[in-house]
Amino acid sequence: MSNKLKVVVSRDLGPDVMPLLLDNKELDVVVWPHNSVCDRKWLLENAAGASGILVMLSEKAKLFDAAGPSLRVVSTMSVGYEHADLKELAKRNIRFGYTPDVLTDAVADLSIMLALMAGRNTKETTEIWPNFVWSPFAFCGPQLSTTSTSPKRTAGFIGFGRIAQATLARLVPFGFQHCLYAANPSTPADPAADAALAAKYGVRELRRVLLAELASESDVVFVLAPGGPATYHIVDEKFLRAMKRSAVLVNTARGTLVDSDALAKALHEGWLYGAGIDVVEGEPKIGADHPLVKAPRCVVLPHIGSATTDTRIGMATLAANNLLGGLFGKDMPAELNTSR
Ligand code: DGY
Repeated sequence: MSNKLKVVVSRDLGPDVMPLLLDNKELDVVVWPHNSVCDRKWLLENAAGASGILVMLSEKAKLFDAAGPSLRVVSTMSVGYEHADLKELAKRNIRFGYTPDVLTDAVADLSIMLALMAGRNTKETTEIWPNFVWSPFAFCGPQLSTTSTSPKRTAGFIGFGRIAQATLARLVPFGFQHCLYAANPSTPADPAADAALAAKYGVRELRRVLLAELASESDVVFVLAPGGPATYHIVDEKFLRAMKRSAVLVNTARGTLVDSDALAKALHEGWLYGAGIDVVEGEPKIGADHPLVKAPRCVVLPHIGSATTDTRIGMATLAANNLLGGLFGKDMPAELNTSR
């Protein structure tokens, strides 16, 4: 019997990263052989006897019984980990790695891009082109940057972690001087920390508020909180009805945070101006007849927040190094404390 450690990898991580695992003589590496979402049945069968498993967001990381007692580490190539059962990982003493930081800038860039695309209605302008007649007020909507007649901009963030703050930093040159955010209600407010962040980003106002105020005061709302039951449909009909008619909603977090039907209704009825959506509840099975795909002034992208070559190589490298650290009882570069 081989005394190599078996590891299962649910997607090919490409020529820059796979050698970290394939060239390691102590490992027996099994890789899902297709360029498609890894089949659950294949994953469960191949997990048997594995010491380490590297998964994507699309795989439920509940593989404990299938893997058996050999399992030492699960590594996900994602910053989000709502697909992992943290309690069970902690109970079984299985280490868990994820990929924070490396994707912060890419997702913040895309958040700004979606705010611009939604506000400038690129959904309808690209659909109509080249059959259009220029007219003075066609396709006019809100402007992201401040103007002499409208000099105040407020950004609202649902969730105010690394990506939200990187997004705020990008908004400051557009003239945003006001920042409101809503955070997990179980964490205490910290006005001193808010004042320090206001100074760091150079904004006049930075405050934690309740969702109702965030909805009614923001010119752009960025949804950037983790997924899971605590944030399910946090953007619902009530929230959307409270938004400014000129405002834009951007979701680059998880589809489950936004009630898609309510958002589609809101866009049809003009409760807000537009939406930029990188994530949709139920993805990747989103068809052309999905209410958000059909909604006016709604730009929908296929979860590409972190999809730049540098960032994806960074994420894959971190995921592979997390796996190696966990397998050999060493430090993992980004290990999540699952016992919290
Ligand atoms: C993540 O890593 O959680 C992102 O959503 C993937 O792009």
